Amino acid sequence: MVQVQWNVRGGTGNVARVPRDLVRYCPRLYRKMSHQSDAVGINFMSNRTVLTGITTTGTPHLGNYVGAIRPCIRASHDVDVKSYYFLADYHALVKNQDPERMQQSTLEIAATWLALGLDTERAAFYRQSDVPEILELAWILTCSTAKGLMNRAHAYKAAVQENADAGEDPDFALTMGLFSYPVLMAADILMFNATHVPVGKDQVQHLEMARDIAQRFNHRYGEHFVLPKAVVEDHVAVLPGRDGRKMSKSYNNTIPLWLPEKALRKAIMKIVTNSLEPGEPKDPDDSALFAIYAAFASQEQREDMRQAYREGIAWGQAKQQTFELINEELIQGRERYDALIAKPEQIEETLAAGAQSARAFATPFLAGIREATGIRKLA
Ligand code: TRP
Repeated sequence: MVQVQWNVRGGTGNVARVPRDLVRYCPRLYRKMSHQSDAVGINFMSNRTVLTGITTTGTPHLGNYVGAIRPCIRASHDVDVKSYYFLADYHALVKNQDPERMQQSTLEIAATWLALGLDTERAAFYRQSDVPEILELAWILTCSTAKGLMNRAHAYKAAVQENADAGEDPDFALTMGLFSYPVLMAADILMFNATHVPVGKDQVQHLEMARDIAQRFNHRYGEHFVLPKAVVEDHVAVLPGRDGRKMSKSYNNTIPLWLPEKALRKAIMKIVTNSLEPGEPKDPDDSALFAIYAAFASQEQREDMRQAYREGIAWGQAKQQTFELINEELIQGRERYDALIAKPEQIEETLAAGAQSARAFATPFLAGIREATGIRKLA
């Protein structure tokens, strides 16, 4: 039993005792017990389920680290939260059809999260493709998802627009994978009755779609799914890249997370600055280098560096200090990362354990969904 606190129509918190797993296995009954008609309106003290997917494309860079990996890993240590972090390799397959790169990226991303201390005791850490229930659910959801809803997806619309601009057929080079991407993502989330889904701003529409898909299913077959909420962390810094624009693979301005020390220093030395000389005051708020420094600094270090900028610190010196700060934060993780990369079988073992714990929930939950749709034994 756990203590659950909820708000009734914005009223003050009441405390009730409700079995912990009830909200996941049987949200309808849970709601009856907690006199609450909208699960998302419940102010969960202990029944938050946090889930997020990491698309396994590319090599992790400092921007991924600051914007997503570091906050999620910190959150994974939260005692009060059930959490799921998974490698979205079936999502990656939509964009990446190079088998070697697929495998390599999965290896690098898994090793990164483990090296940085993801708490795999508390959080389920698994590879999407190791939980086949997710794909089964994706098909079941596909059958009740309105095609019109998918037509409105930003990523799909952008691809169609690009074709139009190039004078191509609207469907040129588009796959069903791209079109159905939001349904697979809804399955990832709804499979575990996730209540909170940390994502970037670009994923908010996908969360709205997941809610839509859940509601439609619930309407037809009964209340099986909890409606998830997007959690968009506005305060996490968007890290600029070497050229001052947002650090992103598509701008080719990233600094890979696990560069060896020397290469990391070199990459930081290449961050674009202006031509102010040593001794000339510099504006920290107009400096990519400062923003990168700030993302790794304590409050005090940040203030000191601000002051140094105003006092005209030389760019070379500011870069050296930025390198030292980042390197210090990453040094232990880098060692663990190198060790893990050399032992992929150890990563496999961890992922297998994660899949097992995810499936312990997914298998019976999916059985209930199949039953509800009439996909049942005959006798
Ligand atoms: N589409 C997400 C992204 O590109 C990755 C993802 C896949 C995801 N499935 C998810 C995120 C489920 C949150 C929940 O960032």
